[in-house]
Amino acid sequence: MTRKVMHAVWYTGYGGGAAGLKHVEIPIPAPCKDEILMKVEAASINPIDWKIQNGFARPVLPKKFPFIPLSDVAGEVVKVGPGVKKFKAGDKIVATLGGPSAGGGLAEYVVAKESLTVPRPREVSAADGACLGIAACAALHSLTVTGGLKLEKTKPRTNVLITAASGGVGHYAVQLAKLGNTHVTATCGARNIHFVKSLGADEVLDYRTPEGAALKSPSGQKYDIVVNCTTGIPWSTFKPNLSPTGKVIDITPSGGTFWNCAVQKLTFSKKQVTPLLVNPSAQEIGFLVKLVKEGKLKTVIDSRYPLSQAEAAWAKSIEGHATGKVVVEL
Ligand SMILES: NC(=O)c1ccc[n+]([C@@H]2O[C@H](COP(=O)([O-])OP(=O)(O)OC[C@H]3O[C@@H](n4cnc5c(N)ncnc54)[C@H](OP(=O)(O)O)[C@@H]3O)[C@@H](O)[C@H]2O)c1
Repeated sequence: MTRKVMHAVWYTGYGGGAAGLKHVEIPIPAPCKDEILMKVEAASINPIDWKIQNGFARPVLPKKFPFIPLSDVAGEVVKVGPGVKKFKAGDKIVATLGGPSAGGGLAEYVVAKESLTVPRPREVSAADGACLGIAACAALHSLTVTGGLKLEKTKPRTNVLITAASGGVGHYAVQLAKLGNTHVTATCGARNIHFVKSLGADEVLDYRTPEGAALKSPSGQKYDIVVNCTTGIPWSTFKPNLSPTGKVIDITPSGGTFWNCAVQKLTFSKKQVTPLLVNPSAQEIGFLVKLVKEGKLKTVIDSRYPLSQAEAAWAKSIEGHATGKVVVEL
């Protein structure tokens, strides 16, 4: 490769939102022993990316400034480190750069660990693949690992509630839940009710109505698993809607979530809330890529932006009204 510099977008301190992003020309990174240099074709934004910019994990994250955000990427292998065995130049790939704290994805080139990279079949576009890291892994992990759901139709029926089902995580969670023997209730805004039904939800509540705010299933279901993808719903709202051993998996945990979780453990409560922070793995991303290839899971993209308009993509995600995922394409 003859090019030595690349276009990247970074921020140099906390705060500033979209206006805090700066376009820069910087050296193309070199892969170490077990790393892959990839040409980024698409990168997706997750709310955690701009929450870190806001100072959500201050002063721990970002590890240093300037910081290039985004860690869910897809593209093509340009060069591999001497220890890389499974990939070669020209291979199409999906990678997670090591969770949102890693960053690096909002750039023309990035290095990814071989252990966090999976092959991308031609049926899976770069944009579709780049969305599968944090969002789809959070949905998968919540339902199957923490929730215990088996994605098989032969198992006994499980009642699932997914809040904010129109968002990046929620739209995957509805589709994944429906791979099992489930009845899925979902919440979203009125404008997305048809969309969420089209993903497979059995019943959908408008979160701005009293019934929606109360999370009451229209058909009277009590939930065995809740994947909570929104904020501000108290335990007192979840509790009466749960089955006797119902579990809330809270991917937006507050201090109250951790407190309730501790109290429930100490009192041997059968109804429980579990806070969850997911770090995507290659194994999970590989499984999700396979589902997309087989047509069993789809990525819905709210909006696509070129790297030159990264600020607009950032602002779109910060608004909190995406239907599906926000993607930057290169
Ligand atoms: N713990 C983890 O590992 C983990 C992983 C991924 C994400 N997260 C967190 O999970 C949350 C969701 O992430 P995301 O990527 O899905 O966000 P997102 O794509 O930005 O979610 C936006 C969607 O949520 C809907 N929504 C907002 N408030 C709602 C409410 N009260 N009830 C129902 N729907 C509502 C919006 O609908 P309207 O436009 O109609 O309002 C919009 O369609 C974020 O806080 C994120 O940081 C955590």
